[in-house]
Amino acid sequence: MTRWKSITVETRREAVDALSHFFTEHGALGMAYDERLFGPDGDPADPLPPPEEVTRLTAYFPWEADLHTVKRDFLDFLPVLARSFGAEPGAFVSAAEITDFGWAEQWKEHFKPRRIGRRITVKPSWEPYSPAPEEIVLTIDPGQAFGTGTHETTQMCLQLLEEAFAAVPAPRRVLDIGTGTGILGIAAARLNASFTLGIDVDPKGVEVAGENARNNGVEDRFHAATTPLSCVEGRYDLILANVLAEILIDLKQEITARLEPGGTLILSGILSEKGDWVETEYEAVGCRLAGRKEEGQWTALLLRREGAPA
Ligand SMILES: C[S@@+](CC[C@H](N)C(=O)[O-])C[C@H]1O[C@@H](n2cnc3c(N)ncnc32)[C@H](O)[C@@H]1O
Repeated sequence: MTRWKSITVETRREAVDALSHFFTEHGALGMAYDERLFGPDGDPADPLPPPEEVTRLTAYFPWEADLHTVKRDFLDFLPVLARSFGAEPGAFVSAAEITDFGWAEQWKEHFKPRRIGRRITVKPSWEPYSPAPEEIVLTIDPGQAFGTGTHETTQMCLQLLEEAFAAVPAPRRVLDIGTGTGILGIAAARLNASFTLGIDVDPKGVEVAGENARNNGVEDRFHAATTPLSCVEGRYDLILANVLAEILIDLKQEITARLEPGGTLILSGILSEKGDWVETEYEAVGCRLAGRKEEGQWTALLLRREGAPA
């Protein structure tokens, strides 16, 4: 399994070489750009017709790269680019992490039924299992998506999720950002959320999450989509996001805007040395720390949005 990080930007075609050079100097290992996304029909997520000759450039970085610095330097670089290519030469689109399972399937050997929290057990479909009466068994086949419950960041989310559903009133509407296999969203549905939306930038993950939802009998209450967070409507009682610290910080305003006042936010995927940084950034947008978990090199934060519940 290989893990990468990526940054995607929009730019005009004539600036692609300059930007490729810029990202290479910042440690990018490869670049891809896709003009089809901005073909004659435009980007489906964008209601306005796109300008001509705009492309979307994705730069791929090693796992250790600091995307926050790369993004900041990219924004600083735009005025320089504008001097050569004219006004508005580009815009930041998204930062993401990518898990590449390759063709090897050795991980299957390590994926056994595993109890997480008080009542939840995660297992793959090929492992037989006889649950105790109060147990909630999630059958998760990962395909090429992240999220088998073997990773600490997922386990801490499941534990905090279980605690959130033990509270009164329990959450009803749940948003799972970076759903991967759908494991967290499906767990929320099994814990009785009435509506759960799982979103992911990776269409493969969304496909896998949909299949897992059907296998767990929650397809009426859990929906997976590639809808960008900026296009997600409505507010949620509980939001989960197990993505890297830099991405969490990048999305802080969009995430909190979709959280009900008094609502619960579970953030994971944070390297422990970045835990305080994420906490401070979320406090600045009206969230307060309500709990924290540490496992190995990872931290998960439980936050509440200020304000009284409706
Ligand atoms: C660490 S995995 C988490 C999977 C699962 N939720 C879990 O907890 O095991 C992170 C997922 O977030 C997705 N992702 C990364 N950046 C994202 C972004 N900006 N918006 C939505 N999804 C993103 C990745 O494609 C990946 O599936």
